[in-house]
Amino acid sequence: MAPQEPFGTSAAQPHAGAVRVRLRPTLQSDIPFVLSLEQDPDNLPDITPWERTQHEAAIRFPDFRHFVIEAGADFEATGFAILIGCRSPHQALELKRMVVWHKGQGTGRAALRVLKRIAFDDLGAHRFWLDVKSLNSRARALYEREGFAVEGTLRDAVRVGDRTPSGYDSLIVMSMLTGEFAARRAAALELPA
Ligand SMILES: CC(C)(COP(=O)(O)OP(=O)(O)OC[C@H]1O[C@@H](n2cnc3c(N)ncnc32)[C@H](O)[C@@H]1OP(=O)(O)O)[C@@H](O)C(=O)NCCC(=O)NCCS
Repeated sequence: MAPQEPFGTSAAQPHAGAVRVRLRPTLQSDIPFVLSLEQDPDNLPDITPWERTQHEAAIRFPDFRHFVIEAGADFEATGFAILIGCRSPHQALELKRMVVWHKGQGTGRAALRVLKRIAFDDLGAHRFWLDVKSLNSRARALYEREGFAVEGTLRDAVRVGDRTPSGYDSLIVMSMLTGEFAARRAAALELPA
């Protein structure tokens, strides 16, 4: 696939200072970076890492969008994100994964706003959804603050070793619908169209 232009820039985040973020399609040469982020001990508890071949397939498969998140003055690669369902006849897109290197600096929020714009404006989503481990309070707080509604719980859906007494954690399903996104945009809580 030919490289595409980066997707928009998100800046001036009200809670996180002026974080400049943009997304571009992941290239084959980015895969080692993506794998190293997934294998970082800081991220492993919060995700279920993929094999190299899964990322390679996600770059090519039309139903997927695989992005590198670039941030900072020089737009250095600082994370990645994956969308699934881009060809969904139900216009239901899933945020499969988002990971950033330098946490707690507003990068995740800025990237999520760009992802919402891509999902609803560019890909015509009616529903944008995700699941997140109940133990992952950082990501859950981000998604809640960014307007995702809790839909329910997939009980004991993932194995987490000794992090819980049972050895399992539940997944919290969250979503945003296009009307909710439009209302947030009207309230200046989202990036402009
Ligand atoms: C989840 C993740 C993408 C968030 O990105 P981030 O850049 O760290 O988050 P931000 O700095 O943009 O913070 C946005 C919000 O997240 C929440 N948050 C951030 N750090 C937090 C922490 N340590 N504890 C609780 N909430 C936190 C807050 O609500 C924060 O908003 P606020 O600053 O207004 O309070 C990032 O931390 C990450 O890569 N984590 C590991 C992988 C992961 O969990 N991915 C998501 C599941 S697939």
